[in-house]
Amino acid sequence: MKYEKHIKLDEALYTFKSANPYFEKKTEEIFCEDLMNHSEQIDCAVSKTMFQELSYNSYNFQVLDKSNILLIGPTGTGKTLLAKTLAQCLDVPIAICDCTVLTQAGYIGEDIESVLYKLLKVADFNIQRAQMGIVFLDEIDKIAREAKGRSMFKDVNGEGVQQGLLKMLEGTIVNVPEKGGNKNPRGETLQIDTTNILFIGSGAFPGLDKIINERCCKNSLGFGAKISEPYDENSTDGRVLHQCDPIDLVKFGLIPEFMGRFPVHVCLDALTKRDLIMILTEPKNALLEQYRALFEIDGIELIITEEALDVIATKALEKNIGARGLRTVIERILLEPMYETPGSNVVAVLVDKKAASGETRPRLFRKEELSKAIHV
Ligand SMILES: Nc1ncnc2c1ncn2[C@@H]1O[C@H](COP(=O)(O)OP(=O)(O)OP(=O)(O)O)[C@@H](O)[C@H]1O
Ligand SMILES: [Mg+2]
Repeated sequence: MKYEKHIKLDEALYTFKSANPYFEKKTEEIFCEDLMNHSEQIDCAVSKTMFQELSYNSYNFQVLDKSNILLIGPTGTGKTLLAKTLAQCLDVPIAICDCTVLTQAGYIGEDIESVLYKLLKVADFNIQRAQMGIVFLDEIDKIAREAKGRSMFKDVNGEGVQQGLLKMLEGTIVNVPEKGGNKNPRGETLQIDTTNILFIGSGAFPGLDKIINERCCKNSLGFGAKISEPYDENSTDGRVLHQCDPIDLVKFGLIPEFMGRFPVHVCLDALTKRDLIMILTEPKNALLEQYRALFEIDGIELIITEEALDVIATKALEKNIGARGLRTVIERILLEPMYETPGSNVVAVLVDKKAASGETRPRLFRKEELSKAIHV
């Protein structure tokens, strides 16, 4: 299965689309060039089915409820990027909110309503447009309540925020301060109906794989039980996350009422080496293109061999921080040439396998050398 993983990401996109039936019918125009793991054929197939479904919905007009989505996946696998790309494709406003700064009412920090204020701002204070938007609750795992016994103090941040979000997630009319900031009893408010706003929660949920594994191992005790493979703590493939059950998330620290309001779970796999190479080279604004452009400003050509790409991807994979590792690795390799070459007579920089693995420095070609090479 060549595209096994890619289909999964497409499925994720598909789930997004079908989860909120009120999205505009922009399906034909879907373009996801920026998001890797997409092959053209699959893209077309997905948009076709989505289009059929949407037109079907408009025929049998029914009131359909939205289903909020929980994205679970290791860091740097493109969760935020996926939501951003989706909003771009659908042409709806998206507010990317950080859950770590939210506090329950009355405490210092941002009020829960501030997420809707952000959405309003992105929608240029067009309430109608905002009511069809997406609220992306990033780092949702950080508002999990502390495990029992770990904290002796009152839990301010986690559980209270989850409780405060309950009604908003389900769909209600929320009073949002007109000027942003925290609630002020005398301040003007705007009313926003959250019934059609799609909430996407996203987090890396560190340690969740262990919880899932414990549960799976427990089930495998006794006569006739299926024997599962032993858990490898160092495995980074993230496949175990696909067996995630609401019970595991409750054990992680999300309260059941909160969990119940995210009926759709999407697990993103950790990126493979092949994915990383694709991310480096293929998107419109690919990392490699960015570095090429950087050198081009000074009239220098940057050449990176295929073998070097392989080494870069392997090194990035070892860092375990997803696609973000790519930039770290490339920066380290190109640091010296980036400072040395501008203003000199260097015309080309070559990164081969050895330079990528740090054994040698990238080769610099000066004008004379290049012309000599051509004459020979
Ligand atoms: N599947 C992907 N396709 C293309 N680029 C990707 C992909 N995944 C990650 N990236 C690159 O990595 C960067 C980080 O991705 P992103 O911010 O979406 O990660 P994340 O999953 O939200 O991580 P975190 O859990 O740490 O917030 C993006 O800016 C993008 O350039
Ligand atoms: Mg993110």
